[in-house]
Amino acid sequence: MTTSASAGKAKPEALGRVTFLDGQGELPMLEISTAWSTAAMYLHGAHVTQFKKKDEPPLLFVSQCSRFAEGQSIRGGIPVVFPWFGSREGLGQHGFARVKAWDLKEFTPAPDGSVSVRLRLPDCPEAAGFPAFTADYIVTVNQSLTLQLVVTNQSRDAEFTFENCLHTYFDVGDVTAISISGLKGLSYLDKVAGFMEKTETNEALRIASEVDRVYLNATGRVEVLDPRLSRKILVEKQGSASTVVWNPWITKARQMPDFGDEEYERMICVESGNVASNSISLPPGGSSTLAVKLSSETLK
Ligand code: BG6
Repeated sequence: MTTSASAGKAKPEALGRVTFLDGQGELPMLEISTAWSTAAMYLHGAHVTQFKKKDEPPLLFVSQCSRFAEGQSIRGGIPVVFPWFGSREGLGQHGFARVKAWDLKEFTPAPDGSVSVRLRLPDCPEAAGFPAFTADYIVTVNQSLTLQLVVTNQSRDAEFTFENCLHTYFDVGDVTAISISGLKGLSYLDKVAGFMEKTETNEALRIASEVDRVYLNATGRVEVLDPRLSRKILVEKQGSASTVVWNPWITKARQMPDFGDEEYERMICVESGNVASNSISLPPGGSSTLAVKLSSETLK
């Protein structure tokens, strides 16, 4: 994959645009438009809530019941999970990055028509338990959506160990009709079976019950084939050794206050990151980049 904003040739008048708006819950939001696509992003959580190519349905799922409020994660889009994944005793699930208002550092409409936005996680009391670090998030919009989470250990003498994950919710026509490929042969932790370690034997994963799997040493690209929306979604990544696949199915969907009872039918999470035994340890001064490119093709 390339992480540069190479979007092919665009006419000068097709320069991308960034518009500042009050989003839902009056949270500050950026609307990004390019010649090929539109995207929406909240400063709250550095949360991308939408990416839509002009001739396609929206790529990302957002729950009709999502909260849009300080201190709460948005249900859908792309929550930035950092500096830990899952639950941690006495602390919130999936880290604090997804519930903080990130600082907008710059936005660049490039001559090729793409737009890049860079945000930084602000200092916050929760970060005090970790060595000094910075976390930057660069989102590039063109025909595809590219996300880069750059973490740098700013401490002089301490190693910084963390997990990260771009917890992407995709919009699908019918979750029982999709197939997810690119995972065969990998070991995974099956969270539905008490974190039992298993091996993926299927060429393509089908969803017919609750699925919550952490695929380990999973560096390759994943494809989601969606016959109902006549679309293939491609997830390409660098600096990521884990892929998480999640669908809450019926019972969990009913238990989640910020998720509709039937919405599990219309979403699948394919998450790219570094979690569990794939967590990252950075020496003082060290830096790591998790880069994910999301793209799609219409099936003829
Ligand atoms: C997934 C986890 O990444 O996120 C699941 O593997 C979890 O176990 C899901 O239920 C949603 O988490 P949350 O905190 O957003 O409800």
